[in-house]
Amino acid sequence: MSAGKDPLQELVSLCKRRGFIFQSSEIYGGLNSCWDYGPLGVTLKRNVKDAWWNAMTLRTDIEGLDASILMAPRVWEASGHVENFTDPLVDCKKCRARFRADKAEKNAAGKLICPECGSTDVTEARNFNLMFKTHMGPLEDASNVVYLRPETAQGIYVNFHNVATSMRQKIPFGIAQIGKAFRNEITPGNFIFRTREFEQMEMQYFVKPGEDDKWMDTWKQARWDWHIAMGVNPAKLRFHPHGPGELAHYAKAAFDIEYEFPFGWNEIEGVHNRTDFDLKRHQEYAKKNLQYVNPDNHEDKYVPYIIETSVGADRSTLAILCDAYVEDPANERTVLKFHPKIAPVKVAVLPLSKKPELAPASNKLVEELGAKMKIQYDDSGSIGKRYRRQEEIGTPFCITVDFETLNDQAVTIRHRDTMKQDRIPLDKVSAYIEDAFKNWKQTF
Ligand code: GAP
Repeated sequence: MSAGKDPLQELVSLCKRRGFIFQSSEIYGGLNSCWDYGPLGVTLKRNVKDAWWNAMTLRTDIEGLDASILMAPRVWEASGHVENFTDPLVDCKKCRARFRADKAEKNAAGKLICPECGSTDVTEARNFNLMFKTHMGPLEDASNVVYLRPETAQGIYVNFHNVATSMRQKIPFGIAQIGKAFRNEITPGNFIFRTREFEQMEMQYFVKPGEDDKWMDTWKQARWDWHIAMGVNPAKLRFHPHGPGELAHYAKAAFDIEYEFPFGWNEIEGVHNRTDFDLKRHQEYAKKNLQYVNPDNHEDKYVPYIIETSVGADRSTLAILCDAYVEDPANERTVLKFHPKIAPVKVAVLPLSKKPELAPASNKLVEELGAKMKIQYDDSGSIGKRYRRQEEIGTPFCITVDFETLNDQAVTIRHRDTMKQDRIPLDKVSAYIEDAFKNWKQTF
């Protein structure tokens, strides 16, 4: 990163320039903390979600679910969100900035300091509930208030019995879900890190009480490994165990997986031992028996403990973007060194000239590779500029069709990270690319 530049702003501007992420409603001046994923961003995030979905559900002990965003309001009373999902909000009387008391510094006398102007002339903290409210049906009164879900987890808990019985799952088993969640955050920011509308990828694993510590260890390790398989540099990841002051009221143990963003170490995922709190609360509020009965002996009856893994799709995508971003001044280029598994474009086909002689070989490659993976075809501008563009969007390989191709029926394959070039026969290109992806070694 060049001196004096704000690394996050450089990334934000690349994301806009290259079609990854745009400010929401930009032509109207934008809507704070809301972002639109452009063509490359939506593919990148989908690749992240697909990798998560496959890691979770391509196994016999985890089922998928897609619960609705709007749920019975009692769900949020049972979960504790109506009562406890609050942040302490403070207003600065001098500059009118609004901030969270629990995140602000205090002076020697213990008075809160405004993070914007440094004044200590601030209001008392008042609790502000982060759930977005709306009304169901035409009347806008208290009797038809519903909430936009602040987490996807509750949709899983209330469907625990439906899934267990319809899929004949035995404990231990899990339910995985990807979906939107909404939080009226007081201080959103840092691009897509903290937004008011975001996507979560949550998996709740139901276990026998007493086996929870073992499963907690298993899932901690599995989730750590997943981030590394996404190409994230392990040196920029760490676990943060929740101390007694941080632990949520329902949790027995919790670990954050943190990433070192340009703005510091921050949580990307939480792995929590939620005990039997959630199912017991839903039992109590819904007045339904949510006990698990072992179908093999009908005697083993208990409310399962839950090990939760909860990661933001947007936050994980931001970590992947930050991690992949490399400035290479010696070669006058900026590169996104995505792992091929999540690169939005896998291969670019670049005929050296627009002359019709090069079309048959180019078309053959487009047809053959395009049927297997997301590719781009680009025949305009200098080849150097085309390489720069592909490096900036993280395309692992560029294939150049040149006039020599007409003689040797071969093309040049250029590696994004090393800029090394190989001459490969046309009919071996597909196997070469697939092999390279299979044996990929991520460099940092
Ligand atoms: N069900 C548990 C739960 O929701 P959380 O720690 O509040 O736990 C889990 O959220 C993950 O969701 C976080 O690690 C983060 O990746 C993502 N997340 C939470 N709030 C977010 C926000 N405002 N913007 C983007 N992602 C968010």
